[in-house]
Amino acid sequence: MNKHIKPLDYNTILKSIKEPLQKVEEILIGKLQTDISLLKEVSHYILKAGGKRVRPALLLLAGGAVGKIDEKTCISAAIIEYIHTATLLHDDVVDNADFRRSKKAARSIWGNEAAVLVGDYLFTISFQYLADFENTELVSLLSTATTAMAKGEIIQLERDNSNTSEEEYLEIIHNKTASLIGAAMIIGAKLAGADEEQSDKLYKCGINIGMAFQMIDDALDYDIKNAKTGKSFGTDLKERKMTLPLSHLIENGSGKDSERVLKILDIDEITDQHVTEVYELMEKYQSIVYTIKRAEQYSNAAKDCLNGFTDSIYIQSIKQMSDFIISRKV
Ligand code: IPE
Ligand code: IPE
Ligand code: MG
Ligand code: MG
Repeated sequence: MNKHIKPLDYNTILKSIKEPLQKVEEILIGKLQTDISLLKEVSHYILKAGGKRVRPALLLLAGGAVGKIDEKTCISAAIIEYIHTATLLHDDVVDNADFRRSKKAARSIWGNEAAVLVGDYLFTISFQYLADFENTELVSLLSTATTAMAKGEIIQLERDNSNTSEEEYLEIIHNKTASLIGAAMIIGAKLAGADEEQSDKLYKCGINIGMAFQMIDDALDYDIKNAKTGKSFGTDLKERKMTLPLSHLIENGSGKDSERVLKILDIDEITDQHVTEVYELMEKYQSIVYTIKRAEQYSNAAKDCLNGFTDSIYIQSIKQMSDFIISRKV
């Protein structure tokens, strides 16, 4: 990111797709009509909890960059958000998380069973609605992404508490986060009539945005400012999740400091005090700075993928999104 230019605020970035995004909101609720009150309560709660809609926005922008944004583009953007929402419901069960989007996680209100089952429901309706398009290429693109997401979560679970190299970390986040954002962009592009080269570039752009996005998410988890709001400070450490700031610290810390971190990871209950101790070591070894730097490289790579496209408000918005994800605080 060019450090001298202040990134735009999120709503300004999305101005070019304001109307289709509103349509996506209507579809998200409209396609969830149900008589089952538990399903309605849980799904509406999470869908209205203030998600940023990054994936639908990128799907629409990719469509706009090569052609027209139409009804199908909006429906597929809603489908991508259903998938994302399903993974969040499941993720909070897997991670034992109490909060999501600064509110109580659905599982803390309705329990793990309801969160898992409503997540399953959102997954399955996504594929049902996509099947209505009778376009096997899109089904294949989305199922490849969801398979990758499940794989990423499983590899991460297997790696919990054991040291993870940067290469392994990259593999995890490519699967669990970048694959869906890549799919969102290529689906938007294909629906708008993109050729192979355009589709490939927009897919790669999405993958790079996704990589940067997760790295920043992992850096924010160690952002001391979040401690004051009680929001997600050190939850990854408490879950013993081996993210880039932590693995950088273990790999680059002196023998004594690394050992101390590994010892903390072995303690039965990791407290706020342990988190602060690890945070201070991250400051000492610049582990968060390093993570942000790596994210910036991916964000720049995302923008490079847009070379060769005719400039437009959509291409500009994708570039601004690539900057926004680096500077975001939420
Ligand atoms: C959260 O994604 C999960 C990650 C992949 C880091 P978002 O930050 O896009 O979540 P919402 O939808 O805006 O809450
Ligand atoms: C988010 O992963 C869920 C997926 C990408 C499938 P994380 O567990 O890393 O993200 P947060 O911090 O809970 O949103
Ligand atoms: Mg989580
Ligand atoms: Mg998780």
